[in-house]
Amino acid sequence: MERKLKMENILEKTYEFAKKYHESDRSGHDFAHIKRVYENMNKLLQGEQMADRFVCQMSALLHDVDDHKLYTDGKNTERFLQSLNMDSHLIEKILETIDAISFSKSGAHPQFKTIEMKLLSDADKLDAMGAIGICRALNFGFSKQQPLLIENEFPKSENSKKTVINHFFEKLLLLKDAMQTVSGKREAEKRHLFMVSFLKQFFAEQNLVEWQKILDSFLSANKMQE
Ligand code: ADP
Ligand code: NI
Repeated sequence: MERKLKMENILEKTYEFAKKYHESDRSGHDFAHIKRVYENMNKLLQGEQMADRFVCQMSALLHDVDDHKLYTDGKNTERFLQSLNMDSHLIEKILETIDAISFSKSGAHPQFKTIEMKLLSDADKLDAMGAIGICRALNFGFSKQQPLLIENEFPKSENSKKTVINHFFEKLLLLKDAMQTVSGKREAEKRHLFMVSFLKQFFAEQNLVEWQKILDSFLSANKMQE
């Protein structure tokens, strides 16, 4: 009972810490993202009774504190956890979980050692997909002055420039196949289909026939269903 109370108290403190920490972030890691990942995690946990709930929730709240895009020394998460007087094995487990999941490290076909890593990866990736994923890609692209699309700059073509639409082909449409848990896969399927129908409509409205073909062959090459 006492242990449970202590954990609830720690979670509350961590929630407030993350809220303050990400408050003014404009790099796609604002607190709204953290909150959605935390909520995704709570949903995914319903289907995974074996996972350590506390480690999962803490990892969700803290997963972007040391994101490389935020130019930290990589120790902010650890310092915060130390300040809570937690058991060192728990601190270790949370740090390991967070460390495992970055897309650049784990790639499109990640192999995770623990269920907590799988859950965190799924919870974070879901937030890059679907309607919210589309909004985040647009936000990110515009903040970097990227164009939406350049007609003859196809994804991964030689010298292809970074555009928002190319980001779908280079990352967002691949996320579905990187999902690790049953309920993560199920939700990713829906969000994937929504992105595909967005792209179809986007190309159709502008009569971008070449791009429609690229999307079709991308989907069949990746054995994705529409
Ligand atoms: P994560 O929260 O998974 O760590 P990232 O830091 O990789 O996500 O990116 C934050 C958000 O910005 C994501 O939704 C991602 O899809 C989007 N994003 C990243 N790079 C680009 C890009 N080159 N163009 C458009 N959107 C991007
Ligand atoms: Ni994230």
